[in-house]
Parts: sequence; structure tokens; C-alpha cells
Amino acid sequence: MTAPRHFLDLDLLPASELRHILDSGARLKAERRARRSVDGPFAGRFLAMVFERPSTRTRVSFDIAMRELGGETIMLTGAEMQLGRGETIADTARVLSRYVDAIMIRVLDHAALEELAANATVPVINGLTKRSHPCQVMADLMTFEEHRGPIRGRKVAWVGDANNVMASWVHAAPLFDFEMRVACPPELSPEPELVAAAAAAGARLHVTHDPFEAVDGVDCVITDTWVSMGDKERERRHNLLMPYQVNDRLMAAAGKDAIFMHCLPAHRDEEVTTSVMDGPQSVVFDEAENRLHAQKGILAWCLGAEAGGVVL
Ligand code: CP
Ligand code: NVA
Repeated sequence: MTAPRHFLDLDLLPASELRHILDSGARLKAERRARRSVDGPFAGRFLAMVFERPSTRTRVSFDIAMRELGGETIMLTGAEMQLGRGETIADTARVLSRYVDAIMIRVLDHAALEELAANATVPVINGLTKRSHPCQVMADLMTFEEHRGPIRGRKVAWVGDANNVMASWVHAAPLFDFEMRVACPPELSPEPELVAAAAAAGARLHVTHDPFEAVDGVDCVITDTWVSMGDKERERRHNLLMPYQVNDRLMAAAGKDAIFMHCLPAHRDEEVTTSVMDGPQSVVFDEAENRLHAQKGILAWCLGAEAGGVVL
């Protein structure tokens, strides 16, 4: 039996495969826009979606992506499953693998994701962990390239908490060959292991504590919530992150050609002002839409291996 094609983290996959996924997503987006139906490549396939934490975009975009291509989904929450009563992740993986063709899971504990993948005989997709959010960054890359052309050689600034979404951006930087700058408070800096792995992979990664230095001359400014799922010390985080708010002054320093991205949900007038969210440089709703298209590319890649190649 061939090994399942898991989609766990960007840095675990070759750039060529990631580019192929983006191309499939873009092609399927064009078909959808033209209202051409794509002849049910996922017919008879089931995706289990396991959510230990809330979701709007990931849940709906995976559900629609699967169904538009002829497949079906089943939604599960940890609390409703025997997982919540102590059944192991490994046994859950073995059982679900007998029923469904792929498993998408949102779980904070990254080790739980890895354990699920190690024991599943079907592809496992990371729908967000505390460590990373690779599906989000696939949609982000698609969005950047739609607005600004190839990301190769460009400059991207992450401003704020060095969280899971940032980690997937850092993973993407050497694979897609762009410069990545991170501006964060010293107390909320990227994990040293992530920085070391990025350096080993040849990333052009610059970490600074000055948001104005980070955004100078960039093509894209990105931020995210100051309090991610599972974070504590809300007030402390707000105090540390206030100087990193993305507002008109910071966007002006980036320049008028820089786009603004945020994975959403946003906390308006906290990490980003309403003026920037709703302003001319913001592409946040294109980015949210692209979750759907990128998800189709990811699903096609994961499911394709077993089907002997779903050609899209
Ligand atoms: N961006 C993102 O993953 O959103 P949800 O939490 O709504 O899925
Ligand atoms: N960094 C955020 C992303 C939400 C989609 C979190 O982990 O809560």
C-alpha cells in the first residue's frame, strides 16, 4: 500500500508539490467563476472533519470544496466523539481510516496531529494546530500572487504575535523564495527551533522588534489576532502587542503598493484598524474566499494519490 499523502506542514513538502496544489486550486477557481461544473472527481469520497476548536472559514471551505467536487463530508467535534472519553488518537485514526478517504483535523496539540497521521492509512490534513496553519498560508500565497504576481523575490512583513500562521509563512519563505520579515515584541518572538530550521532551509528571514523597519519597502503586510486559541494572559499580550497594531501610519510606511492580509477572524481596532481592514490595500476577503479554492487543490493532491491521480 502506498503511504497516504498527508498535508501536515509546508516545510514537509517539496516546493514543486505545493506549486502544483496552488495551480490546481487556481484552475478550479477559474472553472467555478465560469460556472463550468467539474465532473465530480471526488464522487464516492468522504472527508471527516474533526474540530477540537471553533472554525468558520476552515469548516465551511473544506465542506464546500469537497461537495462541489462530488464528495461528501462528516463533521465531528472532539467532545462528541469517544476521543473526549479517552479513546486514543491512534485508535481513532485506525477506525476513521476504515470509513473515510481523508481526515482534516483542527487540534491545538501538534503532537496529536502527528500521532493521528502516523496511525491513519488515509491522508490527514492539518486544519490548524498551535504550531502551524498550512492550509491558511496556501490561500494566502494564492491571494498574494493574484494581486501582485509571482511571490518569488518579493518581500513580506508579518507584524504582531509570532504565532501559528506566521510559522507557516516562515515555512513557505524558502520554498517559494521570498524575503520574510517578522516584527514582534521580544517576549512573543518566533521559536528558536523555527528560526534555526528556516536558516538551515536557506530562508531569508529577518526578525526585528521595530514594525516600521519590517514594513519598509515590502509588498505585503500581514497580521493576526493578539490572542490565539489556547493563549492565556490576554491583557499582557494586548499591552505587549499594542505598538504592533497595523494602522494607517504603518501602511503608509509600507507604501501604497503593499497589500494587507489577515487570516481572519479579525479584532477590529486591536491588531488592525477598521480603516486598514476596509481600506484600499486590504485583500482580506479575497483571502478568505481563496481558502475554498486552495482547499480544493489540497484535497485533490491528498486524494489523488490513492485514486491513481485525480486529474483536475
Ligand atoms: N482563518 C481561519 O482558519 O479561520 P477559521 O478559524 O474561521 O477556520
Ligand atoms: N492564530 C489564530 C488563527 C485563527 C484562524 C489562532 O490560532 O487562533
